[in-house]
Amino acid sequence: MDVIEAGLRGQSWEKVRTLFALDPDTVHLNTGTMGALPHRVLEVVDQATRQWSGSLVDIYPPGLYPEHRAAIAKAYGVDQDEMVISHNATEGMARVIHGLDLRAGDEVVTTSHECYSVLSNLNLLRHRHGIVVNTITLPTGYDVRAEDIVESFAAAITPRTKVLAFAGITLFTGTMLPIRALCELAHRHGLTTVIDGALMAGMLDCDFRATGADFISCSGSKFQCGPLGTGLLYIRNKVHPEHNPLPLPEFWPIISTWYPMQGTPPPRTTTSVESCNIGDFVQSAGSASIARGAALAAACELWDEIGRDRIERRIFELAEHARSRVAERFGTAAMYSPGDDPRLRSPLIAFHPFRDRADAWNVKKVAAFVSRLETEHRIWVRWTEFDVPGSPHQHYAARLCTHIFNDHDEIDRAVEVMGKLAEQLS
Ligand SMILES: Cc1ncc(COP(=O)(O)O)c(C=O)c1O
Repeated sequence: MDVIEAGLRGQSWEKVRTLFALDPDTVHLNTGTMGALPHRVLEVVDQATRQWSGSLVDIYPPGLYPEHRAAIAKAYGVDQDEMVISHNATEGMARVIHGLDLRAGDEVVTTSHECYSVLSNLNLLRHRHGIVVNTITLPTGYDVRAEDIVESFAAAITPRTKVLAFAGITLFTGTMLPIRALCELAHRHGLTTVIDGALMAGMLDCDFRATGADFISCSGSKFQCGPLGTGLLYIRNKVHPEHNPLPLPEFWPIISTWYPMQGTPPPRTTTSVESCNIGDFVQSAGSASIARGAALAAACELWDEIGRDRIERRIFELAEHARSRVAERFGTAAMYSPGDDPRLRSPLIAFHPFRDRADAWNVKKVAAFVSRLETEHRIWVRWTEFDVPGSPHQHYAARLCTHIFNDHDEIDRAVEVMGKLAEQLS
């Protein structure tokens, strides 16, 4: 592995695949649930755990992860004071949603295609503080266009709206939302933007600041291939008018041992110069796993070495291959993921595998399909459930994802097996 790791940027994808602790008999097409761990990251977990077990030194300063946060922040185009190593996307979203200054009657515009982790937290705020959650159902299907999505958000905004909360990439249909256009819409209306970026980190070569968002909460264990229990949270902490001209939103760092016991924290800045390290306020929450921070940083460092631009291109090239195979085998009418509009495509592809369209709301059949793929063919995908505009039923779809450790042949084989299995079950 040492030979391979020298000069990762120039290495073939075949070689890069050997960096991951993959089961050779399994086709892993479910990174949207969990990525595969690089051997190097596993080693860091082990080494850091051993190093800190029974150590006599102060464990609190390293638990703030200052260097790791700085390195990770740089990879995402931001600064250390804007980056928090969280436990997962769910925790990050919860800490943002409950840290916003939302009061009775304030409205949040979101979608029914958000993860439960987002919708349940918003529902809690509805019950606790009387906020109004205005939920739109995103259009689905091969021919959806970015403008359709922006228009549905725009139509839902009212004079009481304070926040737009949406996934950068939805987990149910794998729709890449037009993030910058939605953030610009929010800027025009003076709204705070909260992005569930669970699936963005490690997939997109992304400059968080340039998205124009206020908050982006990502999973560290999906496309970024860090260990389970890692996440990245971006909190806008400076005003760069070219990216987001609005003042920083009021934000309460709940669960913070950095927050003063008396008096007030420093004021937040109104310029591009930091005046209060909000990242420290959120990061500091008692003792922390030092191995976790080091391992996420190691995964990010590996990505930087391979090249984030190269990784994004490879993931999307494999996704286009998979999308065309799925379209050939099942037809574009069976696809819930966008295809026509390249702005909305992601490497998550959701489709209806069966001949009878009514099976789209037969959860048992879709679950059996996914389960048999796993147990009989060792192909790992998942099923998803979501609202479809105008449909009285929730729809169920099979979903596959591509990542850099996949290759064309295994995608071809997997789609072929899925086609045959779907015929048997149809
Ligand atoms: C879009 C989206 N949001 C949130 C989550 C929850 O992520 P985590 O397990 O990192 O909390 C997921 C998990 O699949 C997801 O796909």
